[in-house]
Amino acid sequence: MKVLVIGSGGREHAICQKLLSSRDVDTVFCAPGNDGMKNSGVHCVDIQEKNAKALIHFAQEEAVAFTVVGPEIPLLSGVVDAFTEAGLLAFGPTKAAALIEGSKDFAKQFMQKYAIPTANSKTFTKYKEAKAYLEEKGVPIVIKADGLAAGKGVAVAMTMPEAVLALKEMMLEERFGEASQKVVIEEFLEGEEFSLMAFVNGEEVYPMPIAQDHKRAYDGDKGPNTGGMGAYSPVPHIPEKLVEEAIQTILFPAAKGMVEEGREFRGILYAGLIATNEGPKVIEFNARFGDPETQVVLPRLESDFAELIFALLKNETPDVRFKKAGIHLGIVLASKGYPEQYETGQLLTGLDQVSPEIAIYHAGTKLDTAGNLISNGGRVLLLQTFANTMKEARQILYAEMKKLDNPNFFYRIDIGAKAE
Ligand code: AMP
Ligand code: GLY
Repeated sequence: MKVLVIGSGGREHAICQKLLSSRDVDTVFCAPGNDGMKNSGVHCVDIQEKNAKALIHFAQEEAVAFTVVGPEIPLLSGVVDAFTEAGLLAFGPTKAAALIEGSKDFAKQFMQKYAIPTANSKTFTKYKEAKAYLEEKGVPIVIKADGLAAGKGVAVAMTMPEAVLALKEMMLEERFGEASQKVVIEEFLEGEEFSLMAFVNGEEVYPMPIAQDHKRAYDGDKGPNTGGMGAYSPVPHIPEKLVEEAIQTILFPAAKGMVEEGREFRGILYAGLIATNEGPKVIEFNARFGDPETQVVLPRLESDFAELIFALLKNETPDVRFKKAGIHLGIVLASKGYPEQYETGQLLTGLDQVSPEIAIYHAGTKLDTAGNLISNGGRVLLLQTFANTMKEARQILYAEMKKLDNPNFFYRIDIGAKAE
């Protein structure tokens, strides 16, 4: 069968590659995809991810068996709803269900209603009231833009001037436009962070192994928040009991709650969690696969990915089995300056030296007119490997990352170090 993936990042490359390894899949299209994916047999289609009409037309013309939606933006613009109306199978939540990611205020109210553990919070639309609340609560405190802000709409403020500045930027200067006219101010939580993703079909929940992302730009978790600089799975220092607790107290109640709200969730539910002294609590929900978590979690899937998705789309019980042994590690190569100002169009060097054993997931790469691969985004690509231990995985992968050393790019040298 032929399948279509919507999106263009490293996550979508990993999804495409896993689909290509499925027994019944012979063609994988990615719209719009990126040039770097083409080497691994993905057919890129020049249609933008929000152009539902053109995507539907393409899916019908090619008679694709189903479509997988990667990013949040098309989900929140209702791509899945449009596909369903056209009689096509699309894997991902409806616009109504994707609101669990699209509005932090909605997510907080939802968690409160269904007693899902999360930081205490309050939502504001008026600057003056928000500022008074900040002053009453004191620091450390966390300020979040209500809407989508590409992972950058969160300020963790350790001092009051920082908190006030963040609030001003969001509410008065509309730093994230409409997304930050409303803000959620929440209690600062302490603990180890991890990502728990699950295949969800209404009240059914099939969890994946957990992963840990590295959100800050620089070593030692310093610098600004990014989309993610690297990840690994599983996370050996998070006890299995705690993960089980998160599945029972967070994932299952969330799936059930969404059904009760009339926003039945079908797709990937991503819980960004923090292991506090009082147990796991939610930092955020996403309505999709994480990036870069997917690049280290999907390779652990032992059952057939296309069959799994097809089964969920047909309301059948899927075969969901993940590898138990060893560890997958992924490290992002980013453009110098990311996540702030950076240049694109920089030549990628050393890629041809990377061992064929290493998976390369392209995020922001393209071919120039001479046929050379150049950068085309903040996160450029991710190298991923598997090993029995983290120590071994880090040794292998950092030797490969070195081959890509180039003053126009950077990567963190401590990805996975905590798990050694
Ligand atoms: P988010 O975009 O919601 O995942 O938040 C980005 C990052 O901000 C998270 O990965 C955390 O490191 C941090 N963060 C968010 N909410 C809290 C919180 N309530 N307490 C402490 N840190 C937080
Ligand atoms: N890696 C975090 C996210 O996908 O939102």
